Amino acid sequence: KFSVVIAGGGSTFTPGIVRMLLENLDRFPLRTLKLYDNDEERQGILGEALAILMKEQAPEIDFSYTTDPEEAFTDVDFCMAHIRVGKYAMREQDEKIPLNHGVIGQETCGPGGIAYGLRSIGGMIELIDYMEKYSPECWMLNYSNPAAIVAEACRVLRPDSKVLNICDMPVGTLRRMSQIVGKTPDELEVRYFGLNHFGWWTSIKDKEGHEYLDQIREYVAENGYLTTVEVETQHTDPSWQQTHKKAKDLLAVNPRYLPNTYLKYYLYPDDEVSHSDCSYTRANEVMNGREKEVFDAARTITEKGTAAGDEFHIDSHASFIVDLARAIAFNTHERMLMIVENNGAIANFPDDAMVEVPCIVGNDGPEPLAQGKIPDFEKTLMYQQVMVEKMVVEAYVEGSYQKLWQALTLSKTIPSAGVAKNLLDDLIEANKDFWPEL
Ligand code: G6P
Ligand code: MN
Repeated sequence: KFSVVIAGGGSTFTPGIVRMLLENLDRFPLRTLKLYDNDEERQGILGEALAILMKEQAPEIDFSYTTDPEEAFTDVDFCMAHIRVGKYAMREQDEKIPLNHGVIGQETCGPGGIAYGLRSIGGMIELIDYMEKYSPECWMLNYSNPAAIVAEACRVLRPDSKVLNICDMPVGTLRRMSQIVGKTPDELEVRYFGLNHFGWWTSIKDKEGHEYLDQIREYVAENGYLTTVEVETQHTDPSWQQTHKKAKDLLAVNPRYLPNTYLKYYLYPDDEVSHSDCSYTRANEVMNGREKEVFDAARTITEKGTAAGDEFHIDSHASFIVDLARAIAFNTHERMLMIVENNGAIANFPDDAMVEVPCIVGNDGPEPLAQGKIPDFEKTLMYQQVMVEKMVVEAYVEGSYQKLWQALTLSKTIPSAGVAKNLLDDLIEANKDFWPEL
């Protein structure tokens, strides 16, 4: 049985993940589950409610929550990390400051992602160091954003640490694809190349080898990735409707493969900005939606003294984290998309780039599967973007204003060096409590 700590215990995703872990105990048995956060208040509200739920549903598991790193990281096998340095207040800034300059406002793409990245690096490194100090054998399963920059920072600053970087986006898209062709996700195997939130599916086959790429492409050209199953059940937020509409345009400009929908921020930035409302962004949707719902649910559980009413939703698609933990723990050789150092997986792309590709995961970690050579259009876009990510990490390490300005200037989301500089100066001001001195 395993001991797990969830870093980011005060996150609105935590209850869903705890419930998902409880659903998967037969596959991934737990002896200890701990929450860790540096925000005592947020974590306290969720922790109190989750303690009630755990006592009712899994009294045999030792559950606790703490803001003390030693307590959190002592005797743990896995750390599931989803931290948000600066929380939603800063996400709102990440989205609104760029929009005020007529530039994409998004938490992981463009200037917002860069700002968030510079906030997150220090927090991630701190977690890794706690983990290695108190539980040297522990693995970190990291899905903290912005995953691309965070992964590059881990590669540069903690190259030998047991950190696995993964994103749920490909998992979610595979689920949609499987609905489109009437299969289950585990009946399909994909080939994919790219960076995090920046890539293309090149093949979707069932176990008999039948290729579904054309069929899915036709569907997406017509409907985006919005499946008929989903229309009624999920993602009614306006920002998601827009994402599905845009998938069609992405396919039109580059019909060869199936695009990751985040590419809309790079290929249609002007369009995205014109559809954005700089007084009400995704951060506002989440603060008024998920944040309220989850914290209200926690308070209800605590007031009633029981979790019997099922107030916390289960985040079943988060079960990819269990698949990943199982792959390490039981050497399952599960095939998953991971963010890893390229080292030839994409033949005509730099070895030291952090790329997203299918990997076979066993108890030594991920082994990337060779995706061969990629075409010029995709390669050029990827190279420009990966250099942004690398230069952001370099700027962090060197404390270099100049490099950060260049990184912003290189981003396809920003029209000029002048706009980049104005933006940078605003971002520095907004992030002065979080960023290193530049
Ligand atoms: C997807 C991405 C995550 C991102 C999330 C944002 O799942 O893979 O990287 O954090 O979307 O979701 P939100 O509901 O917070 O906008
Ligand atoms: Mn992601």
